[in-house]
Amino acid sequence: MNILVTGGAGYIGSNTCVALLEAGHTVIVADNLCNSKNDAIEKIMQITNKEVIFYQIDVNDVVAVDTIFSNHEIGGVIHFAGLKAVGESVEKPLEYYYNNILSTMVLTKTCQKYGVNRFVFSSSATVYGDNKVPFVETMDLLPSTNPYGETKAISERILTDIAKANPAFSVSILRYFNPIGAHESGLIGEASNGIPNNLMPYVTQVAKGIREKLRVFGNDYPTIDGTGVRDYIHVLDLAEGHVAALDNLTEGAHIYNLGTGQGTSVLELVKAFEEANGIEVPYEIVDRRPGDIASCYADASKAKQELGWTAKRNIISMCRDAWRFEKNFKE
Ligand code: NAD
Ligand code: UD1
Repeated sequence: MNILVTGGAGYIGSNTCVALLEAGHTVIVADNLCNSKNDAIEKIMQITNKEVIFYQIDVNDVVAVDTIFSNHEIGGVIHFAGLKAVGESVEKPLEYYYNNILSTMVLTKTCQKYGVNRFVFSSSATVYGDNKVPFVETMDLLPSTNPYGETKAISERILTDIAKANPAFSVSILRYFNPIGAHESGLIGEASNGIPNNLMPYVTQVAKGIREKLRVFGNDYPTIDGTGVRDYIHVLDLAEGHVAALDNLTEGAHIYNLGTGQGTSVLELVKAFEEANGIEVPYEIVDRRPGDIASCYADASKAKQELGWTAKRNIISMCRDAWRFEKNFKE
């Protein structure tokens, strides 16, 4: 099937393109490269030895998106394209609302015009807010503390309403937990330019000697060792989750957690990284980061039951693959 992958040059999108090509799909990527590089496309082709059709366009551009649908018979859309930096979304709310919500509308409108009824959307566990763990898909969502989280919740509602009004529309809304790791080849991963906000890219930069030490944001949370607990998931497991979601699309809107169901604390992750790679990661405990919650992990049973998908890779392989990519990565 011809799959349009928006944001396919990015971290999760590029790894998903590999999984889609390996599953026998034809991949058409639409990406404006605002947070990625052209060479991600070349690396996808290098890994799979298959062609990728690439359009460097903004997915908010109605005419450019229409051109793709008129040039190719699109069988389904996986919509990754979006801005994702939480702090930046507080500083530039309009950019986030415009980019992340308009793109969902432009794509679904074009899908309607061309009769494309298969859609997979990148949401985030951030929509659960500070609910009680484990997070289950049926929980009421709590208002987000930042515009980024709101763009995901609003896009979810738009897609759900479209599915209610048009019974032929099949959409899978995937709530990712914390994707880390990289492709085993070390060729595609999370290219961290500048000072990373997220834990794993920071840890790999400390290991590489780019940063002196990790700052652990708080050790007084009600968790196993006082540090924040998250559900880290290997990006390749996440990529396979998209293929499963696409293969199992059924009419209506369906929401799935893509997580492992396991919580890991910051200090446990540091220890796992040291063990996996034989490198010490110096750290210091500092104040809590505003907006952080104590614990976030999935109830991952719905995706297992309905998609036949579970995450297979453990925290050691996530740490090993993240480090292999960082070692290879040059800005
Ligand atoms: P990423 O920044 O690596 O990839 C996003 C891609 O979208 C980039 O290549 C960027 O150039 C492209 N893009 C952005 N706006 C665009 C536009 N208007 N037109 C065309 N291309 C555009 O991010 P990622 O980590 O791969 O995340 C993919 C999706 O998953 C995003 O929607 C993100 O919000 C969501 N998500 C990510 C995480 C995470 O931790 N990485 C967690 C939950 C959800
Ligand atoms: C962050 C986003 C969230 C998004 C998710 C995607 C914020 C506030 N939240 O969540 O919206 O969906 O990424 O992966 O940015 N930590 C440190 N030191 C660091 C960095 C992080 O101790 O230098 C801790 C954090 O306090 C947290 C854990 O590591 O306990 C994970 O942090 P991070 O990787 O930023 O992810 P989230 O906070 O889960």
